[in-house]
Amino acid sequence: MVDAPFARFAGADLPEITSSRATPFYAHDLDGMRQAGSELVASFAGAAHLVAYAVKANSSATVLRTLLGAGTGADVVSGPELDLALRCGAQPDRIVFSGVAKTDDEIDRAIAAGIASIHVESIEEIARVASRARVLARRASVSVRVNPALAKEAIATHSHVATGHDEAKFGVLADDMRYAIAALAREGDAIDPVGVSAHVGSQLTEVGPYLESAAALIAIAQEFRKEFASTMRLVDTGGGMGIDYGAGCGVVPGDFVRAVRPLLERAGLGDLRHVIEPGRCLVAPYVVLVSRVVQTKASPSRPELRWLLVDAGMNDLLRPALYQANHRVAVIAGGSGEARPWRVVGPVCESSDDFGLHELPEGAPAIVCFRDAGAYGFTMASAYNGRALPGEVFLSGGRVVHEVPRAPAERWVEDRLKA
Ligand SMILES: Cc1ncc(COP(=O)(O)O)c(C=O)c1O
Repeated sequence: MVDAPFARFAGADLPEITSSRATPFYAHDLDGMRQAGSELVASFAGAAHLVAYAVKANSSATVLRTLLGAGTGADVVSGPELDLALRCGAQPDRIVFSGVAKTDDEIDRAIAAGIASIHVESIEEIARVASRARVLARRASVSVRVNPALAKEAIATHSHVATGHDEAKFGVLADDMRYAIAALAREGDAIDPVGVSAHVGSQLTEVGPYLESAAALIAIAQEFRKEFASTMRLVDTGGGMGIDYGAGCGVVPGDFVRAVRPLLERAGLGDLRHVIEPGRCLVAPYVVLVSRVVQTKASPSRPELRWLLVDAGMNDLLRPALYQANHRVAVIAGGSGEARPWRVVGPVCESSDDFGLHELPEGAPAIVCFRDAGAYGFTMASAYNGRALPGEVFLSGGRVVHEVPRAPAERWVEDRLKA
């Protein structure tokens, strides 16, 4: 059975939108994102909170402003992301900054902006933040990112996106927290220890690992509060809320919040600001990557080998090559006959430029899209192989409200001629 064409998206007509535009481009459903943001904010049911949207997932200003408008703040991992969040209107008190290797300049910017928390990821970083605060004659609000050191296999996600195990570079190991607490106490003239955070991994499709991480974090938060009762303000249980890429997902983002709240309340931490750092779940389902089919390729001697060669490549959507991720491919226009397996591949000169086997019409479609492409899609795009970055189209109320067209191919040539 061939699925009905995926012609309507965000209340708009995708074939019509595509007809006048260069492909590939990312099409964004801003109304869907706004609703997802509002629902997650509402899941706190009045408890003190901050939904710090992980800007790395999708850093288009239009997306960021939409989510900020829905009541989120921002989780940033670099100086430029911090500047972007501020310039898009994020209040400093609604920004947290993670990252294992922040430069002095990045630390300075965060201190100067007065953000809610610089999440330090090592004991060494505590001394660096303190010394920069002294140079700037400011106090820095600091949380410690804890690595709860869960067993790798307990974090049910791809190993490249599991961060809360003891071989990961992220955070301070739970066993080392007493040293971090001592370092914070030593630097008390320059630092306000405001909290603890953890982020166990991404694309979690069940709450179990998130709860396990939160439980470990909460035990540490209780100790932390004993030491720093007057400055502690937040507990950050991280992002990682998964979405349904087609293989199923039994939870919605708010389920993670609703699962953790009772733990915080029981631990006597319910009054603190409960921060979360969702990225993917607020953007991934609300974006498709639209691509034209360039041609088909078949092997007369091996009829089972059939390729659909599309104009989007791994440079536009890296997740399949990087994490073996599978994005559903849907037909936007064209295609006839029964569904057959097609290997969908891009133009990039790498074997990993392969989006996998997909059931698509025997008579090849003309335009397809990769679904759920809103997170770690455009933000990971590159110009590899002399390819222009994909375009971006933003939809709201069933129409295009903003767009950045795909750059002309000559731009890449001009850029490289400068090098
Ligand atoms: C520290 C931190 N917070 C939040 C996120 C966002 O994760 P997700 O997009 O899975 O919600 C990440 C993702 O890598 C992260 O490393």
